[in-house]
Amino acid sequence: MAILITGGAGYIGSHACVELLNTGYELVVLDNFSNSKPEVLSRIKEITGKNFTFYEVDLLSKEAIDSIFSRHDINAVIHFAGYKAVGESVCEPLKYYHNNITGTLNLCDVMNKHGVHDLVFSSSATVYGIPHQIPITEDFPLGATNPYGRTKQMIEEILRDLYVSDKRWSVALLRYFNPIGAHESGRIGEDPNGIPNNLMPYISQVAAGKLEQLNVFGDDYETVDGTGVRDYIHVVDLAKGHLKALERVLLTTGVDAYNLGSGFGHSVLEMVDAFEQASGQEIPYVIKDRRPGDVGICFADTQKANQNLNWVAEKTLTDMCKDTWKWQSNNPAGYTKTQDHVTSIQLAP
Ligand code: WQD
Repeated sequence: MAILITGGAGYIGSHACVELLNTGYELVVLDNFSNSKPEVLSRIKEITGKNFTFYEVDLLSKEAIDSIFSRHDINAVIHFAGYKAVGESVCEPLKYYHNNITGTLNLCDVMNKHGVHDLVFSSSATVYGIPHQIPITEDFPLGATNPYGRTKQMIEEILRDLYVSDKRWSVALLRYFNPIGAHESGRIGEDPNGIPNNLMPYISQVAAGKLEQLNVFGDDYETVDGTGVRDYIHVVDLAKGHLKALERVLLTTGVDAYNLGSGFGHSVLEMVDAFEQASGQEIPYVIKDRRPGDVGICFADTQKANQNLNWVAEKTLTDMCKDTWKWQSNNPAGYTKTQDHVTSIQLAP
């Protein structure tokens, strides 16, 4: 029984691969390295001591996906692969709609052809748009406010329609809040291209001296200190949530959405303080105007995931900051090797 992991070389995908391998699953991993590096693969093998099959494949090639299903007995899929930068999606919507939606349609087509109907989908809290109240529950109306979020919302609807047409489908829609942190080994972590858009990688690069200071986007929100509040979740807790969701889709049918967050909100300045405490590094910052599209407060009600998946986020904010700093300080330039000795199999075109 093999599990196919799309986007398995990415930040969240690689952490999920570690937990899945440590649990004993046989993995087939695909990635096109559009937002990841081959070096991650050898790090996953180093951490777990386990082998897995990897294919450098783009989901826009239906033939390549089909070839993987023909070569392996795939029982379920965890689908991470997709572009995820909100700002970029506003500038290049067609790139996002084509990559994220066509790639998913190709994947589902091939899954169906091979009789595979168990899927865990990497969705996002951005499908909620501007929440009418806090904390957010899964039955809130959806209203993504950017093309990236709309690709996630549209894919959720596509998967629901698939189940209506064929009751063999079993799908978990995992709505991530704000994943941060890194594996405790410090050997895998978040390695954004260019200047980070997200708070935690930006803070960690300020702490490492790669960036001068943090720009705090607004201090006039109705929050504890006026700065934005978000639900930060350790990436390892998030990865473990995928294991629980996989167990559930293998046993059931239907489509269910789950909020994967900590269930707690922390402000930007609280994150700065927590990171300074955990790293011993000062984080200079300056208050700037609000970032367009930001909401003031966003955090999850996680009762459905707690109860239905028997999952709860266990790691603390200190864990998140300490593990981020260990990754950052041990890998100041992120993943640096352009190629790696790991068997990266490229399917014939
Ligand atoms: C967090 C807080 C900012 C950077 C994004 C995506 C979402 C999801 C998670 C994929 C906010 C403030 C940030 C900075 C700052 N990704 N901030 N200075 O916007 O909640 O969610 O990541 O699914 O799709 O939208 O995360 O880390 O960008 O911002 O003050 O340099 O930090 O205003 O309050 P966000 P973020």
